[in-house]
Amino acid sequence: MNKIEIFPGLFREIEKIVSVPGRNRTKLEKICRLIKDQLPGYDWVGFYLVSSDKERQLILGPFAGEPTEHTLIAFGQGICGQAAETEKTFIVDDVSRESNYLSCSLNVRSEIVVPLFKNGHLVGELDIDSHTPAAFTRDDERFLERVGEIAAGLI
Ligand code: SME
Repeated sequence: MNKIEIFPGLFREIEKIVSVPGRNRTKLEKICRLIKDQLPGYDWVGFYLVSSDKERQLILGPFAGEPTEHTLIAFGQGICGQAAETEKTFIVDDVSRESNYLSCSLNVRSEIVVPLFKNGHLVGELDIDSHTPAAFTRDDERFLERVGEIAAGLI
């Protein structure tokens, strides 16, 4: 199955995770794990959350994949920081060509970062890394923005 065929069923499973009773953090973790396990090329899936006490900083939230040293990222720094600053989705086909990039692993070749909003305010981001070059398309972006809309309610 290609990703386009997986997205609809996966979205319904995510809606189910969101709707059952439980801790929001656990739900965000489950969403990361599910997306990472179900979608080819999704090798690291995590949330960064806008810090409530440190100004213009992102804090690593729930994630699935290898641990990262980037647990605190300033707005403007790296792909995540640029997405936070501009409040726009970033798709990077080849991370080796980016000068403003924070490397988590030498295996990572491409990345997508989707900002998340609650009541019109940036509350976090969904960040995906892939070991495959140019792994993410507009279809991934559309899917992840829909996931982001419901995940933002858990932040
Ligand atoms: N590559 C990101 C940093 C976060 S890690 O990918 C988990 C960036 O450049 O902001």
